[in-house]
Order: sequence, then structure tokens, then C-alpha cells
Amino acid sequence: MSDTSKRIYIFDTTLRDGEQSPGVSLNVEEKLKIARQLARLGVDVIEAGFPIASPGDFEAVRAIAREVEGPVIAGLARISERDIDRAWEALQEAKRPRIHVFIATSDIHLKYKLRMTREEVLAAVRKGVARAKSYCRDVEFSPEDASRSDIDFMCQVLAAAIESGATVLNIPDTVGYATPAEFGHLIAEIRRRVPGIDRVQISVHCHNDLGLAVANSLAAIENGALQVEGAINGIGERAGNTALEELVMALYTRRDYYGCHTGIVTEEIYRTSRLVSSLTGMPVQYNKAIVGKNAFAHEAGIHQDGVLKERTTYEIMNPAMIGLVQNNIVLGKHSGRHALRTRLEELGFKLNEAELDKAFARFKELADRKKDITDRDLEAIVEHEIKQIPEKFVLEHIHISTGNRVVPTATIGLRVGEELMEEAACGEGPVDAAFKAIDKITRIPVCLKSYALNAVTGGKDAVGEVTVKVEYAGRVFIGRGISTDVLEASARAYLNAINKVVYEIGEENLQVLEA
Ligand code: KIV
Ligand code: ZN
Repeated sequence: MSDTSKRIYIFDTTLRDGEQSPGVSLNVEEKLKIARQLARLGVDVIEAGFPIASPGDFEAVRAIAREVEGPVIAGLARISERDIDRAWEALQEAKRPRIHVFIATSDIHLKYKLRMTREEVLAAVRKGVARAKSYCRDVEFSPEDASRSDIDFMCQVLAAAIESGATVLNIPDTVGYATPAEFGHLIAEIRRRVPGIDRVQISVHCHNDLGLAVANSLAAIENGALQVEGAINGIGERAGNTALEELVMALYTRRDYYGCHTGIVTEEIYRTSRLVSSLTGMPVQYNKAIVGKNAFAHEAGIHQDGVLKERTTYEIMNPAMIGLVQNNIVLGKHSGRHALRTRLEELGFKLNEAELDKAFARFKELADRKKDITDRDLEAIVEHEIKQIPEKFVLEHIHISTGNRVVPTATIGLRVGEELMEEAACGEGPVDAAFKAIDKITRIPVCLKSYALNAVTGGKDAVGEVTVKVEYAGRVFIGRGISTDVLEASARAYLNAINKVVYEIGEENLQVLEA
């Protein structure tokens, strides 16, 4: 990297703002998995959660603070004493903790949400930032709804935050209202007007309501922002946050223009995207820049011809840069355990012996039904079925009878400890029948909230990947299953969600239905 290239710091909020996406709910173990992967990806800061929000959030921030080394670990707090104290309680064991405090500065938020005057907000900022600073050297302050705030007042607030000890000032476009030129100008004005601004780092946090989050973040960088906040796959409140993979690859691919670099290990991008999508249950749109299924696919004959002759005719990035291994068809039913282990390692999965046994068994089952097992199939096996929680209910067999003139009927066999339990049920369709038969055995009153079926790869023998969301006691649990048979994949996904309910709620606390 040239001496003049500017270092941009990447603040990942997948586990906080990203987890606020509708329908997303991650448990502590899943958050830890994502945090470990974010550390491998090389993000500078992980915002691990909002500790006061719930006991689960608190535990997750504490676990990540204890375990994940490398990045700074941040926890969010409103400007109140209770929030800040709770954030510090969760963060204190981190090697590099940061308390991130925020309060809104726009008149609309002051009047309707906070019911506070500007003077009261100013006083709260002084008090809150100073309190956070009394615990932690590294304090980030955000004036929420900055892009709709009166700039004079916001600059006054920012100056007060610096005087009280803030080390990072984060400027959020909370409702995704700004345009790139406007947002860039806002950053330039803040740099011009706020006393002491040279002592702190300027950060930005953009939402994507108008599809401008990445563009706004880039405009801010051009005007002096050094930290960008965002989430993997751009997940987050409403239309989401700045998609970090897009921002990082824009800075890399157009380094000639931006003159900036990050500390991101770009080869980890694809794996991180898959993990986040798989654990949150939020699919990545096919045409999504960088990590979408079609991002490097060439359909038109002229394009295919061009790429075959010279890749750069139609590709501005090498897919290998984001860790997309395109060596597709590799294993088949004659491949052995050693070949599987080697390929999984090449794909970045390090399994212990028990996990490898399980992966090998599933691989063999799949290879009996599908000639070529692709890298995407292997990823699906590991992500969905291997690194999983303990299973109370294990699918032994499934038999479905269906058609357009018969009542769909399912017979399901589940292993529960040593016992094999079998039930049959009819339903509106074959999936409904299978789920009803499973319900008869588990007797756990879950409510199915969503069901999605995707093909992992192309072809008639493609592996079907099913993701379901079920609700139990007001909480959402995500289950996933794969198989070349979509009904089996559905049953596996449903059982996976139910096993998570058992694991997380605890058998002793479950309310089961009468037999
Ligand atoms: O969007 C927003 O304003 C936020 C703040 C808490 C930084 O998420
Ligand atoms: Zn936000």
C-alpha cells in the first residue's frame, strides 16, 4: 500500500443494528460464531449488541468481550446512567472495550420521542459521555438522526461530546434520508465547525432506505470520515445498513480513485456473508453486489465468450478476491473421507473428528442421490447440519403420499434418545402433513411463521435448502435443512428449529401438549 493511501476503519454492527432486522433473532452461540468470523474477516470494531436491551443481548456482549480478541468490542447505550453502567458491565472483560453512547439531536426526535429541550440534551451528553469515559478510555458518541438535525445545534453537541472525552464521533443517517453530495458536505462542515474535531475520529453510519447507504458512506470518506459502520449483507433496521462487503470492495477496486485501504481480509468476505445469511435466516438477493449468487455469473453469450477469452473484459473483480472458490464440481460418491476433509479445509471449514464423521455420513447420503457434489453443497452440509446444537429429535425416516387427487399424508419416524417414535398425519399439502406428524411426536406447540425453499445449485438433482422460522413463547427460532428431496429438507428444517427450542428454553421449562 502506498504511503499516501488512507486507512479506513471498519466498524461492524451486524450483531447490533443487523440483529434489529425484522424477524432476526440470534442466540449467544450464534452471535459468538459470527463474532469469531468477523475477527477472521479483520473488522476493526465489532458492535456486539445493546446490553440493556435484554438479558440475551447482555450475555452475548459479555461472551464476545471475554472471548473474541483482535477487534475492539463495542456495546451500545442510550445516554442514561443505567444504560451506560450495564454496557460497561458487559464489556469490562474485553481487551479493547468501547462504549457507544447515543442520543437524538433532530428537533423531530427531541419534540416527539425524547420530549427534551436542546439544553437538556446538551447537559445529558456532557454527563453521559463523561460517565462512559470514567469507565472506558474509548468512547464513541452518536447524535442520532444527525442528517435531519439543525447543524448548529448538532455541532454544539459534538463539541460537548469531545470536551467530555469522546474519542469517536459517529454521524448517523438514521432514516436513510441523505443524498451523497449532501452527506459528504455535512461531514466537511462538521470538520470545519466543531472545535477539537482533529483530536477524534469521524465515523459514519448510514441506513439504506433510499438505496444510498454505501454511496453516502463513500461520500463521507471523501470528506474526511475515517470509520464506516455497516453490516454484512447490508442487514439492519428497515432497508438495512451500509453493506460492508460492498463498501470494502468499492474502496479496493477503485483504490485508484479513493486512495484508501482497509484491514479487511477480503478472501473471508464470501464465507462471512454465507454464515450471516445462514444464521439470521435472511437470504441474500441473487443480484446483490459482491455476494449475490449472480454477482459473478455471466449469462449472455457475448459476455461468456469475452470472459473465457479474457476475464477482465466483463469482470472488474476477481471472485477469488472475496473467497469465492470457483472450482465447482469436485466430489462424488466414490470420494473418501480424506478427500472430503481436504476439500472442506480448502473451503475454510475445520471440523473435529465427530463433526467430520457426521459430515461424511451426510455427504455419502447425498452422493447416493446426486452425481456431483459441489462446493456449495458441501458448504450447505456444514453450515446447516454439522456445527449444530445437540438434537433431541433426530429424523429417522419420512414417507409422504401426495398428489392432486389424494389427501396428502405423512408418516414420520423420529429417534428420541434410544426410542424410535412414529406418527402419521394428513395436511393441506405434503409439508403441512409432515410438520403435523412431527408435532404429534414432539408435542411442542411451536407456530410456523415462515418457510422458504431455495436450490443450493442448479440442475434437476439440485440440493434443496429449506429455512423455517417458528415461534415459541414469543421467541423466534430459525431452522434449516437440506436434501435433494425438498420434503425431507422441510422436515429437517422444522426439526432443527424445534431442537433449538428444546436446547435454548431447556427441557425442564418446556410446556408440552397432552398426548
Ligand atoms: O441508526 C442510528 O442512528 C443508530 C445509532 C444508534 C448509531 O443505529
Ligand atoms: Zn442504525
